Amino acid sequence: MSETEMVIPRHVAVIMDGNGRWALERGLKRTEGHREGRKATQRFMREADARGIGYVSLYAFSTENWSRPEPEVEALMGLIESALVAELEELCRNDVRMYWSGRREGLPAPMLRALDGAVAATADNRGMVLNLCVNYGGQIEIVDATKEIARKAVAGELDVEEIGPETVQQHLYVPEVPPVDLLIRPGGDLRISNFLLWQTAYAEFYVMPDYWPSFTGEHLDAAIADYNRRQRRFGGLVLVE
Ligand code: FPP
Repeated sequence: MSETEMVIPRHVAVIMDGNGRWALERGLKRTEGHREGRKATQRFMREADARGIGYVSLYAFSTENWSRPEPEVEALMGLIESALVAELEELCRNDVRMYWSGRREGLPAPMLRALDGAVAATADNRGMVLNLCVNYGGQIEIVDATKEIARKAVAGELDVEEIGPETVQQHLYVPEVPPVDLLIRPGGDLRISNFLLWQTAYAEFYVMPDYWPSFTGEHLDAAIADYNRRQRRFGGLVLVE
């Protein structure tokens, strides 16, 4: 299939894994890997936008990442916060709208300010959507949605018999973001790691051995080409004449 015939996935999600291993293999500290990972994130955004991808979800910090050593957690928080402040102008220049998926509890005030600030500052942008996942866990997101639905049911605002998949979708952190079409995982691990559990129900997985800091546009092209070779059936059948 030629480049021009490629179907571009509407929503691409990335588990940005392998920063630590990238650094250790080079005799560097893990935090150096995260710094390079930040550069890869910037590259990825430009390459995704250039290919006409509508939505990108990035797993920057999970609810489980708090169990890492304190200096690494602090370094990650500082890195994500400073990237948000530093990249805001470029996001706006490129008409990118940012949403944040995650829990407020536990996040330091400067991080909350940076996240809320970026969401507000990009609210009128109409280009590519960035769903940044910080202090995010797929199970907790579904728990939070369930609590909200239960509260409404108890208050009589919602009929239990009417609850369906769309009800859950409407109570996710960012209901506007459509299902994931393509999930990319660098670093070789074959697992979902509590990322976008609801949204990846029918996502195609692309696992690559290279680490996130070495991610380039060529990796993205390879992932899109692989996606184009998949036959998406969504639980149904493709009938051959
Ligand atoms: C996983 O690698 C990566 C993370 C937990 C952090 C991801 C964060 C960034 C890429 C920083 C930049 C983010 C933004 C939004 C600017 P790992 O440390 O688990 O790697 P390992 O599996 O090799 O140990």
